[in-house]
Amino acid sequence: MRTLIIGGGAREHALAWKISAEQPTGHLVCAPGNPGMATVAKCVSVDQADPEALFQLAEHEDSDLTVIGPELPLAKGVADRFAAGGRLLFGPTRAAARLESSKAFAKAFMARHRIPTAAHEIHTDISSALAAVRSGRFDYPVVIKADGLAAGKGVIIATDLTTAEQAVQEILVEQRFGAAGATVVIEEHLKGEEASFFAICDGQTALTLPAAQDHKRVFNGDEGPNTGGMGAFAPTPQMTDQIQARVISEIVEPVLSGMVAEGQPYVGVLYVGLMLTVEGPKVIEFNVRFGDPEAQVVLPLVSEGLTSLLMAAAQGSLAGQNCLVDTKPHVGVVVASGGYPASYRTGLPISGLEAAVACEDVLIFHAGTKRTEAGIVTSGGRVLTVVGRGSTFSEAIDRAYGAITLIGFDGMYTRTDIGRKALALAS
Ligand code: AMP
Ligand code: GLY
Repeated sequence: MRTLIIGGGAREHALAWKISAEQPTGHLVCAPGNPGMATVAKCVSVDQADPEALFQLAEHEDSDLTVIGPELPLAKGVADRFAAGGRLLFGPTRAAARLESSKAFAKAFMARHRIPTAAHEIHTDISSALAAVRSGRFDYPVVIKADGLAAGKGVIIATDLTTAEQAVQEILVEQRFGAAGATVVIEEHLKGEEASFFAICDGQTALTLPAAQDHKRVFNGDEGPNTGGMGAFAPTPQMTDQIQARVISEIVEPVLSGMVAEGQPYVGVLYVGLMLTVEGPKVIEFNVRFGDPEAQVVLPLVSEGLTSLLMAAAQGSLAGQNCLVDTKPHVGVVVASGGYPASYRTGLPISGLEAAVACEDVLIFHAGTKRTEAGIVTSGGRVLTVVGRGSTFSEAIDRAYGAITLIGFDGMYTRTDIGRKALALAS
């Protein structure tokens, strides 16, 4: 089988690692890929934002299945281009990808289909948005979001009226998030533990994967600014069978039937960002692809047949299939450049990678790395995800951080408390 993976982060490295292990005689191409992916696949450069270029690459490589890692190509309509050209792709159409690319669409969709989420209002003009935050209709903190894709940065949790007024001003008037902020969503602040839930969907049927927990803030104890994600663990002990059954019946199934009813069947990964509130699970947001860093701890739990499930989903034939999963604790720690998510240096030589890769029950996934004549150097904010697995969360944490002690580069930064919440939840 010939497979093409689009993307070049640790999430895509995890996909490439899994697919290449399942298809030892297959042909795997990653675009653009990274030095980690280059150990299991051919890497070629491509403009990820250009559906036509991606389609031409799939034609050139004669790929049987294309798997899309990030949201941007999906929001640009890559799935529509592949459908028109008759090539299989795992991911939603541009219209279905609005579940992530437009928060206003996602909120209105949830309201139409009675899917539990935070109470909200949508505004496009500054006077009605200001009136809404001043109205007393929302308690503080209140959550203010830019409508479109803003790389996880378009969410402001305002603790008082002045901050809320500033936030709507920045989004709608100063256009801090560009066109993504032409519309603002104002919503109720939900309380509880967060969880990331993934379902592989073929339009009608959903197969669920073990749930994970992300660590979005840059500092220990969930302090400091939001990032793309500093680490994750799975399976999260808080996702009991009972809660999972509610997530499926109250959220995943209504999303699939709602998208069918609206003429946009959903194919791809449905990532449900959940808040587990006292009233039950509620949707914080949808994403239309695997999470990063969640994929790095969830994909290793799929014990067999991920590639054939992605293929079946793309073909619309998931009904009657099973997703076999392991329950062994996995903890993934993001190794970042000092200064991230603000400015940071790049081009710094990374030492100790080979020794870390050789550690037992450790997986190293590359993100912001580059191969040079002098060896592998840093090239981004999130450089690696180091995953440890164990028979307990405590063992998985020790393995991940043990491997990290072998790795070094100037200014290297990790949180030191990834997975600690799992210990508390599991006990
Ligand atoms: P999002 O990009 O929508 O996932 O938001 C980023 C983060 O902001 C989430 O992971 C939550 O931690 C937080 N957040 C977003 N919306 C809400 C909400 N309505 N209530 C509480 N926290 C929220
Ligand atoms: N880990 C959050 C995301 O992938 O959006």
